[in-house]
Amino acid sequence: MEGRAGTAVDVKSKVGPVILLGAPGAGKGTQAKLIMQHYGIPQISTGDILRDNVARGTGLGRKANAFMDKGELVPDQLVCDMVADRLRQADCAQGFILDGFPRTVAQAEWLDGLLKDQFFEKRCSAPPVVVNFRVGYNELLRRLTGRRTCPTCGRIYNIYSQPPRVADTCDVDGSKLATRKDDSEEVIAERLKAYERQTLPLIDYYRRQGRLREVEGEQAPEKVTAEAFRAIQDGNRL
Ligand code: AP5
Repeated sequence: MEGRAGTAVDVKSKVGPVILLGAPGAGKGTQAKLIMQHYGIPQISTGDILRDNVARGTGLGRKANAFMDKGELVPDQLVCDMVADRLRQADCAQGFILDGFPRTVAQAEWLDGLLKDQFFEKRCSAPPVVVNFRVGYNELLRRLTGRRTCPTCGRIYNIYSQPPRVADTCDVDGSKLATRKDDSEEVIAERLKAYERQTLPLIDYYRRQGRLREVEGEQAPEKVTAEAFRAIQDGNRL
């Protein structure tokens, strides 16, 4: 079968868990949506779930907001509890895409333990495939400052590289596009520092496990998608 990005993909094969790694702005959310459509497994974006909790004013949202506003990571325990709840839902039984999780070695170790739990082993015996999107610092800055998102359908745009047909308006549902609160230059700088300090070590963590697949993220989105599909297929053959 021919995939969206022109790659031969066996969509019937069981995909299992897919972990997307990469700096803020590397394209995890953009690619997660395409992988979700293609393989029919849900995108679990910890950033989206946290932002939804903030918007609804839940207890979790109130606790998380103080960290997110400063570009810091939300404490591991809060995020791990949230992820455990989400992964137990029925739609994750055939696999799932983790977008923005894990983000620390402690989260990765916790996830390894969770996936060995009887409940998850029975559902999804395949070990995770980890795809890392590599993008340089200047391009990350351009992408984050140019990002706009649709508050209704979640579609991601970029005023430089993927603009909507009509300025500030979602192509799908006509909603007015929004700029994420943490996409200000000051907060972006803190997010990139947190990434280097706390998330970068995960690359070695998964490389040592033999699970890491590198994708060149600084090319046209459809080329990134094609490489990501190949990485997922290869990872699943292990
Ligand atoms: P989160 O929402 O996860 O943000 P992030 O990791 O900083 O990643 P982004 O969503 O900014 O970028 P992305 O890689 O998804 O890029 P996108 O596809 O949008 O986290 C936000 C906050 O929540 C954190 O700071 C933290 O406080 C908290 N949090 C979340 N998870 C946590 C965890 N596990 N532990 C603790 N705290 C946690 O693309 C970016 C732009 O580039 C878009 O405009 C897009 O159109 C454009 N673009 C994408 N691909 C391309 C391409 N190939 N070419 C050109 N432009 C492109």
